[in-house]
Amino acid sequence: MPTPDRNLALELARVTEAAALAAARWMGRGDKNRADQAAVDAMRLMLDSIEIDGVIAIGEGEKDDAPMLYNGERIGAVVGGSDRGIALRGAAHGEVPLVDIAVDPIDGTRLLSLGLPNALSVVAMAERDTMFTPGHLVYMDKLAVGPAARGKIDINASVKDNLHAVAQAKGKPVSDLTAVILDRPRNKMYVDEVRANGARLKLISDGDVAAALSAALEGTGVDVLFGIGGSPEAVIVACAMKCLGGEIQCKLWPRDDSEREYARQMNYSLETPLLNNDLVRGDNVFFSVTGITDGELVRGVHYTSGGVQTESLVMRSESGTVRRVQATHRLEKLKQFSGIEY
Ligand code: FBP
Repeated sequence: MPTPDRNLALELARVTEAAALAAARWMGRGDKNRADQAAVDAMRLMLDSIEIDGVIAIGEGEKDDAPMLYNGERIGAVVGGSDRGIALRGAAHGEVPLVDIAVDPIDGTRLLSLGLPNALSVVAMAERDTMFTPGHLVYMDKLAVGPAARGKIDINASVKDNLHAVAQAKGKPVSDLTAVILDRPRNKMYVDEVRANGARLKLISDGDVAAALSAALEGTGVDVLFGIGGSPEAVIVACAMKCLGGEIQCKLWPRDDSEREYARQMNYSLETPLLNNDLVRGDNVFFSVTGITDGELVRGVHYTSGGVQTESLVMRSESGTVRRVQATHRLEKLKQFSGIEY
């Protein structure tokens, strides 16, 4: 009998908890960069404590010039030991797993800086060289659904056809569906089409990771995500979908001719859809998300007299286990040994 192996998602929970705790101090203070810096620092420190040989495949900062956990950065307690490392599956036997890591220390920095809902801290991990790297192409066109509609959608089809496919898969009329779209001029076609087809619509100012995950989970009131948003966020969502059984399909969306030329040079197709398996290959994916401000997915960080509370979703694709982890943190104790500014 094979013995149960190491579930790195549980270790990732500490990473997103730490980032969320550090970021939460900046709620409503109108300073996106300092909030991001606090989350990045906490995340880096915690990732460095995990026994992995990791590479940041999806970092942040490319688009916003924000403080980065930069693409290609080596991270983990054991880096540079590739000759001793092994693929993730053998991790039970004490060897060092070689992994790709995708981070979004804060998805929704603006939401956090204004004290608005749905700011999250997210980390995903998969076997080395399995994550798609979009380079300088910072946007993708996205279509995301939950398990019921997996295999039924097609990003090349019309909004109407996709709405009908989701409605049929969920056994309800299109008028009972709720679509979510990032409120941007570039997404006007999606907004018009969803309205024209009679579905309900939720326009969000930021945070399409939370929105896509909401489409994959029952009870959130969201059925499908359409529209153009960040490329790193698309890869992160693909990792979560592997764990939740949902699906995301994307297409690279260059902003201008220089990005089109870059895509050509890099041999990226702008026509061929990137399916879930193209965004992250394999079935050995670990994921953790912790709320910073309250949202439909998870509660944000709450300060109580008994300690500071966090809520996280912690999951693993191989087993399909999704844990909702509620934690109480004693900051006065953590501060004595953690080095993180909580
Ligand atoms: P950040 O918090 O990293 O800035 O991302 C927020 C976000 O709304 C993402 O959820 C989304 O994918 C992206 O920005 C959209 O980009 P833009 O704000 O440039 O339209």
